[in-house]
Order: sequence, then structure tokens, then C-alpha cells
Amino acid sequence: MLDVVVLASGRGSNFAALLDAQQSAELPIRIRALLSDKSAAPALDIARAAGIDAIVLAPRDFADRAAFDRALFARAAQFHPGLIVLAGYMRVIDAAVVNEWRGRMINIHPSLLPKYPGLHTHERAIAAGDATHGASVHFVTAQLDGGPVIAQAQIPVLGGDAPDTLAARLLPLEHRLLAASVDAIARGRIALRGNRIECDGKPLAAPLHLQADGSLPAVG
Ligand code: GRF
Repeated sequence: MLDVVVLASGRGSNFAALLDAQQSAELPIRIRALLSDKSAAPALDIARAAGIDAIVLAPRDFADRAAFDRALFARAAQFHPGLIVLAGYMRVIDAAVVNEWRGRMINIHPSLLPKYPGLHTHERAIAAGDATHGASVHFVTAQLDGGPVIAQAQIPVLGGDAPDTLAARLLPLEHRLLAASVDAIARGRIALRGNRIECDGKPLAAPLHLQADGSLPAVG
């Protein structure tokens, strides 16, 4: 069993999806805690309802970003997680703290990275006239949304799409992508070695693609 701590700033639907997959015993993980920087984050209520520790630290109570991040991750470390999952966690994390968790922290991002790091990804995909959009799960490095990508899920951009319709169609795939990526890490299929991802014992040349059945393919 892999012990997991989740960080979320908002709604928490990705967190809820992980929790569901854990509870239906599909995922060999134990979610130990949900940490948030926002006291009103609905994700906290999802954790409380599931009997999982829900912890809030307020950035304004700390001198600067580094101090807040050190405190937040020290709290996370008390649960001895083998993996920290950023699931809609909306703060940039101090580089020194990120480096301490290198290879043990992933993020879900709503674009086909390296396209559109940062915010407003759906708007940007539509404005660029992209035919395809998607989501990525990547290891977190000090470069914002720039770490090695483990896996991606793709959807077509439709003629009438607005940012909210595109986001709504992508969200269920994000949930499956995150669960599949955590599953692959928990089962030891995926690891970060240096700057490269190893999958099934081989270097991963390109991100894995989520299959229709919600799994990630074996590597050739
Ligand atoms: C998701 O779109 C995720 O990709 C992004 O923020 C959103 C969070 O949604 N990083 P939720 O809080 O998991 O519902």
C-alpha cells in the first residue's frame, strides 16, 4: 500500500475520484490526509465526510511563501507519504521544497503539456484553434507545470466549444488519468530516474496515453 497525501485548493473532484478508486479497492493506496491553503475549499468537506484528516494552513499566517511551503510540507511529511498528489492545488511551490519531494510528487494539469502551462488552458487551446486538447499528469519539478510527463488523456475540440464545455468534457478523463497514474506509481510501474521517467523498467520515450478502459498501456 502506498501512503498518499493530497493537496487541493478548491472543488476537489480529482481528490474525490482518487478516494472512490481507493474505496472500491481498485487503487493500492491509502489516502492519509487532504491539505489545503483555502479554508473554504470544498475538497476539505469531501475529506471530512470520508473520515480523512483535513488540514488547512493559511498563507497569510506565514512570513513568506517559502515559510508557508516548509510548514505545509512538514505537516504532509507527518503522514509519511510515499506520494504527494497536487489535485487542483493552485499555488506555486518553493523550489527548495519541491526538490525535497522530487520523484515523489505529481500534479494533474488540464492541457497537453508542454502546451499551456499555467492558467486558462481551455481558453488558450480554443483561441489557438487546436483540434485536440487534454490533460497531463507529471512529476513536479521547480519549473511550473514543466516536469516529466507520465501520461496524458486527449479529447477533440468541437466547433461550438467554449472554455466551460471543453473543461466539462475533459474533467471525467482527468479523473481516470489521475487514478491510472497513481495506480501505476503505486504498483511500481512508473518512477522518476534523474530527469527521465522509467516505465516497466524501460525509459519512457513519450507520455503514456490513457486507454478507453481507463488503464495505461504496457510499454513495448
Ligand atoms: C482540474 O482541472 C485540474 O486539472 C486543475 O485544477 C482543476 C481542479 O479541479 N489543476 P478539482 O478541484 O479536482 O475538481
